[in-house]
Amino acid sequence: MPHRAVDTLREQLAPWMPGLVVQVLPEVDSTNTELMRRARAGALPPTLLVALAQIAGRGRMGRSWYSQPGAALTFSLGLPLQVRDWSGLSLAVGLSLAQSLHPDIRLKWPNDLWWQERKLGGILIETASLGAQRHAVIGVGINLVRPDRPDLSTPAAGLQEALPGVDASQALERVVPGLMQTLRRFEREGFAPFWADFAARDGLHQRAVTLSDGTQGTACGVNEAGALLVHTAAGVQAVTSSEVSVRPRPFAPM
Ligand code: BTN
Repeated sequence: MPHRAVDTLREQLAPWMPGLVVQVLPEVDSTNTELMRRARAGALPPTLLVALAQIAGRGRMGRSWYSQPGAALTFSLGLPLQVRDWSGLSLAVGLSLAQSLHPDIRLKWPNDLWWQERKLGGILIETASLGAQRHAVIGVGINLVRPDRPDLSTPAAGLQEALPGVDASQALERVVPGLMQTLRRFEREGFAPFWADFAARDGLHQRAVTLSDGTQGTACGVNEAGALLVHTAAGVQAVTSSEVSVRPRPFAPM
């Protein structure tokens, strides 16, 4: 990643987060793990940590996140965040990324970016208490090139399908300023101001879904707290747990 890109970002971000540390590592186990380590050691100034290669990238629910050097954008943002209700944060983050990247990127609750029915990227949010302050570590992984791995449980996409030729520093410059604004707004106003824009990109809307506990139903949007609403045989269920995964069932053939 060129130094110029890092300097540009530092300048762009200064009004939102004076003193933000912007660091690019050639290799790390996981940018989230590294920032959580720093937080636990009591030293986490607001930091944007970008990795050129991650060797133990992590996803939600204990899964691993695989990326090949040069073929993905992987970064984490660690910062103090004063949030009353954390439940909609990953939705607001996903929305911000999608809006900064392409009008046709869809969102799959709670925090996946989808391109043409395939997974383009994901978000892993973790928190740590540092004294009286709560820190958030917001990890973002976006494939630039579609990973060529037959063992992936979810079909994958690459950002270059939407933005031909885009590289990691260009993608980073596109997403980070909007992300900062989103986080500041979320601190002040919660998920409510993001609800309508999320709904417009909701890739699960009216889709038949199966929850990880086996419940089947039809997704019908999210509520004002960011919980997924699923029409089931027992009525509308608000799915709030971030530990629940949702699988859209394929469209029935016409
Ligand atoms: C998911 O889809 O389950 C979330 C994937 C999040 C991956 C990113 S890559 C940068 C950051 N570091 C990690 O180890 N994970 C996140």
